Amino acid sequence: MPLPTEAHSDADIRRAAELLARANSVAVLTGAGVSAESGVPTFRASDGLWEGHRIEDVASPMGFRRDPKLVWNFYNARRANVGKVRPNPGHHALVELEKRWGKRFTLITQNVDGLHRTAGSQRVLEVHGSLYRTRCTGCAKIEDRGLEPLRELPHCPHCSAMLRPDIVWFHETLPEDIWQEAVEEVADCDVLLVVGTSAVVYPAAGLIPLAKHRSRWDDTRPGASVVEINLARTDASDLVDVGLYGKSGEILPKIVALLPGS
Ligand code: APR
Repeated sequence: MPLPTEAHSDADIRRAAELLARANSVAVLTGAGVSAESGVPTFRASDGLWEGHRIEDVASPMGFRRDPKLVWNFYNARRANVGKVRPNPGHHALVELEKRWGKRFTLITQNVDGLHRTAGSQRVLEVHGSLYRTRCTGCAKIEDRGLEPLRELPHCPHCSAMLRPDIVWFHETLPEDIWQEAVEEVADCDVLLVVGTSAVVYPAAGLIPLAKHRSRWDDTRPGASVVEINLARTDASDLVDVGLYGKSGEILPKIVALLPGS
């Protein structure tokens, strides 16, 4: 049963800040909700559609084989939308956290909108790829095309094969090196912040129990503390130590403001 917004107390926010203040290393997992206040639509609308499209039509290899023009229309529209939006206070608060923890801070995002980097986050593991990049279906070359407008059906400037967005679609595996780094950082962190994700898409959602139990890594060390920030409870909520239910663009800056030295 979804909770109403603002279902958290000042004491919960203080508790989250205290856990962070004691942490030697911090990992963050973000999802579409962190960008919602910037005006980027989230995915799981109640009608099961993404901006009017069935998910498998625009975000699967089969959908791309069937109708690459439809898929590119969808992604070109998303690229154009990202060009119009700006990072929100939630993104900026995560930049502040990285400044404090430096190399002991890892931001793992399922988002492909690039807003964490635009805000100034340095070390971002984009486990589901990026709207900025294209990948050639022929020579496999990956290129950062920024947000320049692409053709309706773009082709590779090197080998002329069709390009696709460099995005992880349903039924595809995650980029192995990036995913491995995410797993190692989460298995080793003291606090995991889980922000704006419905925690239903695997393997990314599996990072949450990994932080809690980390049994494969080191069973002499207690699991990390997990703090969830979301508009409403999710599939992961039963696992978390602190659940803060409200807007991430409001809650994250409040946590940062409570950290020592703020
Ligand atoms: N603040 C905090 N949380 C929010 C906010 C907000 N302002 N707005 C929405 N949310 C929460 C919603 O309650 C929901 O739990 O963000 C979550 C968004 O969930 P999804 O739309 O399912 O997005 P995400 O979890 O990122 O999806 C994971 O699924 O479709 C694939 O590859 C795609 O990366 C995506 C993955």
